[in-house]
Amino acid sequence: MSTPLDLQGRHIVLGLSGGIACYKAAELTRELVKAGATVQVVMTEAATQFITPVTMQALSNRPVALSQWDAREPNNMAHINLSREADAILIAPASADFIARLVQGRADELLSLLCLARPIDRCPLLVAPAMNREMWAHPATQRNVAQLRADGATVLGPGAGDQACGEIGDGRMLEAEELRDELIAFFRPKLLAGRTLLVTAGPTFEAIDPVRGITNHSSGKMGFAIARAAAEAGADVTLVAGPVHLPTPRHVRRIDVQSAQQMFDAVLPLAARHQLFVATAAVADWRPMNAADQKIKKDGSGRVPVLQMTENPDILASVARLPEDRRPWCVGFAAESENLVRHARDKLRRKGVPLVVGNIGPATFGQDHNTLVLVDEAGETTLPEGPKLHLARELVREIARRSSPKTT
Ligand code: CTP
Repeated sequence: MSTPLDLQGRHIVLGLSGGIACYKAAELTRELVKAGATVQVVMTEAATQFITPVTMQALSNRPVALSQWDAREPNNMAHINLSREADAILIAPASADFIARLVQGRADELLSLLCLARPIDRCPLLVAPAMNREMWAHPATQRNVAQLRADGATVLGPGAGDQACGEIGDGRMLEAEELRDELIAFFRPKLLAGRTLLVTAGPTFEAIDPVRGITNHSSGKMGFAIARAAAEAGADVTLVAGPVHLPTPRHVRRIDVQSAQQMFDAVLPLAARHQLFVATAAVADWRPMNAADQKIKKDGSGRVPVLQMTENPDILASVARLPEDRRPWCVGFAAESENLVRHARDKLRRKGVPLVVGNIGPATFGQDHNTLVLVDEAGETTLPEGPKLHLARELVREIARRSSPKTT
């Protein structure tokens, strides 16, 4: 779900220290370049044992910096030039040894030298550890990582899972796409820092029998994009998702449900613990009154089963009716096939929420692009067509501006 050019205009110094995860740095370079960044690779001598500077030069389209003694720099101060140009320095992979060197302020090779020489208040340092799980868990490494954070660095990961050594545990470097998204998020303004946001997404599935059910075309993309945009903006995000096959955005807590009733049961207790609630889910209005325990069979008579339907609870309206001290600031969505603004305004009143976001449902379901109309008491604002992630970021900006922070 990445949007191209999210790193347009950013100059990233990508530092590689020695580790098997250097192979992921090749893919990471491609991802950063594809997202619009210029990437200057700097490698320690140990890193060159794992991947060649030739590969990294070809992928970054720039000669790799390898030594503080490289006389090709006109002023012979590669460490100063590199760190002054950078919008951020990302060390990926960061070995246990390299982290120890950063913590000690070593400066006897180019990469640690330029980290030490960087203007600390305007050139952020991000570090993606990569090592064996025992090395990661060792008190020396944990002490060093804590000190690194205290010194202002941002530590990305590590992840858990299979390791090159054959063991399983914490210490894997995050994947290239995860690191790219971490970097994109790092640069986003923290408009929702310290706030909590709950979002529903996707369709619901209302069972008829164990193999059939009623659902709809909602892909969940808009809700997942809002969850991601809110997390990028610094919010603590919980996502309650109907049946969709979308990856969970990073740092988002996800709860999977199937039916409208399950979504209602998950959301209501959570809503009172969140400051903001965005209901993007396309919740089924009705469900079969009694789902059959066994598959309903055709009996050959030509008669079709008649489904008795009952109405589902309205999740958004129920949240909006919570007592004021437990009620989050609510945003509804209106997926319509016609008269968008009129229907959206009608929902604003009917559901008692301060903001309804309208879109033309059939045109947007499953698509990556969308157009949104924001309807509130004051009037309408149109967010022009764009990728759902861009619109989600705009919407997060609007939500941050309109909702006043409150403590829960
Ligand atoms: N919604 C909800 N629970 C429901 C139905 C809808 O939380 N049982 C929320 C949706 O997530 C959305 C908003 O209410 O934010 C409007 O949903 P929509 O289906 O467009 O509206 P309905 O109330 O179902 O109205 P109608 O079907 O008449 O358009």
